[in-house]
Parts: sequence; structure tokens; C-alpha cells
Amino acid sequence: MSLELATAGESHGPALVAIVSGLPAGLTLDREAIDADLRRRQQGYGRSPRQQIETDEVEVLAGLRQGRTLGTPLALVVRNRDHKNWTWGMNPWPPEGEPQGKGTKPVTLPRPGHADLAGVQKYGHDDVRNALERASARHTAVHVAAGAVAKALLAAIGIAVVGEAIPEHGADTAAVDAARKDRDTLGGTAVVRATGVPPGLGSYARKEDRLDARLAFALMGIQAVKSVEIGDGKELASLRGSAAHDEINTDKTRMSNHAGGIEGGMSNGEELVVSCSMKPLPTLMKPLRSVDLATGEPAEALVERSDVSAVEALAVVAESAVAFELARAAKEKFGGDSLDDFVAAHRAYLARL
Ligand SMILES: Cc1cc2nc3c(=O)[nH]c(=O)nc-3n(C[C@H](O)[C@H](O)[C@H](O)COP(=O)(O)O)c2cc1C
Repeated sequence: MSLELATAGESHGPALVAIVSGLPAGLTLDREAIDADLRRRQQGYGRSPRQQIETDEVEVLAGLRQGRTLGTPLALVVRNRDHKNWTWGMNPWPPEGEPQGKGTKPVTLPRPGHADLAGVQKYGHDDVRNALERASARHTAVHVAAGAVAKALLAAIGIAVVGEAIPEHGADTAAVDAARKDRDTLGGTAVVRATGVPPGLGSYARKEDRLDARLAFALMGIQAVKSVEIGDGKELASLRGSAAHDEINTDKTRMSNHAGGIEGGMSNGEELVVSCSMKPLPTLMKPLRSVDLATGEPAEALVERSDVSAVEALAVVAESAVAFELARAAKEKFGGDSLDDFVAAHRAYLARL
């Protein structure tokens, strides 16, 4: 059974939900490790005050018994603590009583760079909030919880995945301070590295099997990410073949790793290196020009509590996305209804290599 992830949840709704199916039975999960990743996602210089309201913690509703997976769908929940301020505005049911709290008035001022305008046009909403609540990156929290589960599966076969922000743009504290002072925002770049990846995850057989294509899809699916590079990426275009390709030692390792550990859509046994870059965040405290959808008149865009930079968080979200995709590829390659079967298949494969 393939490893799959489905999620639901709005930014200020009651909770974020994920269902992870296809996990082998017998995998031990550590609640502390999942919560530690959730906390990492909330950190970073330049985050909004929302992060002080939320203290994300995972709840497990199904698929786990006494800390070990059952081989059945794993249901994860991360509650939105801020929902208590939105119980009228974001009530799943028609709310009773007088409007109170936040989200009671329709938003009609779409932000350039956000999902607001195209979202209301596409779905026929007259309140931008109906689009922005799901478009928001808040639900990356539950992706990070699922990524932590994927990392536990990968650890069983010796694969470790770590993401970090590149210290420039939105990860530079002086640049963040300056942008905050100007009521502006920043973007930035995160790099994710995975060690212990055996050769042969992914395949050249079909384009949808290619590990590079799958990682690009996973990373491009993160809000605000506008470019993905595998290994030296775009820089390779300016090199000669003699400088670009990773020559092979007799023990089948490489003399360099420009390819970032992927050739022919498969892992090649070297460290996997992928990076992704996010554009500057669209919500500016000094708003950009827009239109009031209620009147058709020129207006300033919505100003809502927002990060100045989220690149440190991006690093954690990207790490989770890469971990989930690697776990999916590993599950495909090694199968196994139980963790023991999965690990044994991995061991037998390495012995054959
Ligand atoms: C971890 C993370 C945090 C984000 N925080 C914010 C934020 O506080 N304010 C904002 O305007 N955009 C934020 N974004 C980006 C928006 O969600 C994103 O730009 C928007 O959904 C439009 O999608 P697009 O940029 O892919 O076109 C964040 C993105 C990520 C990955």
C-alpha cells in the first residue's frame, strides 16, 4: 500500500487534520519528537504574534495504539488555539447570537501576491476570507506533523532529513529588522539535505516516478515557494559537462555531488540536496494598491497580522515535504505491512548492492 497524505483545515477554524495512510504496522512514534518539529515550525526571526497564541501540539485520533502504528490510517489533529477568538466568524455551523470576536465582517480588499482575488473569482465567494483561510500557510502545521511521522519511518532504515534556512534575505536578522521598520516583507531560501538514502529510490520509468519531479512537486506545493533546485540546480546550466558531472569511484561513491544525489530520476546513494526559494510574503503592513470588491473603487489591500519573514519556518516545512516524499518512495521500494518486513527488505537490498 502506498504512503498517502490527505489534509483539511482552515487557518482560524477549530483544527487542522491529516490522515496518513499506508504506514507499516509496528512503527514507534514519539509524541515529543512530533511536537518538537511543530515548535520548530513556529520559530524564526520575523514571525507574527500569532505564534505566541499558538502552541502547536499533535493529537492522534486513530491508527496508533500505545505509541505504535497499527498499519491502519493514522489520524492527526493540530488544534488552532486562536479559534477561541473566531468562534462566531469561523463557526462551521450558522452561528447563534450576536456577531462577536474576529472574522465577522466580509473581507473585500484582496492582497496582491495572495490567493485572495483569484480565489474569490474562482469559487464565487463574496468574502475573501473564504479563500484566504485555506490558502494560508497555517495548515503547514499538520504537514509538519505528518513529516515527523515520515521521518520516524525513514529513521528505521537509517535515513535522516534536515532543512535549514540559507543565511540571507529573510533569514538575516538585520534585513528582517529593516523590513519590519519599513512595514515590508521578505522571502528567502531553504535547503534540505537527506543522508543515508540508498541508490534507487524513484525511477526513470515514467515522469511521475522520477524522484526529482516528485520532490519538486512536494516543495512547489508549499505556499510562496516559487523555485526549486536539485543539487547545483540552475548553476549547472552554465557549466561544461566535465565540470558538472560527478565522477565515479571504484566503490561506486562519487568524487563530487553537483547532482544533489539524484540521477535519472533516482537517488544515487550520495547525500540528497534540494533547495527551494519563497517570494516575499504578500501581507504588508504598508499595504499595496488594490480594489475594494464591494465598491469597485481603488483601495489599499487587507492588512492582517502577518510574518515579516517565514524562511526559518519554510526550512521546517520543506524538510517535512522532502521527508514525506522520501518515505513514500522508500515504502514503494521496500513495501512491508509491518515495520520488520520493511526493514528486512531494505537490508536485503543493501546486501544485493
Ligand atoms: C511557513 C509559511 C508562513 C507564511 N506566512 C505568511 C504570512 O504570515 N503572511 C503572508 O502574507 N503570507 C505568508 N505565507 C505565504 C502565503 O501563504 C502565500 O504567499 C499565499 O498563500 C499565496 O500563495 P503563493 O505565494 O504560492 O502564490 C507563508 C508561507 C509559508 C510557507
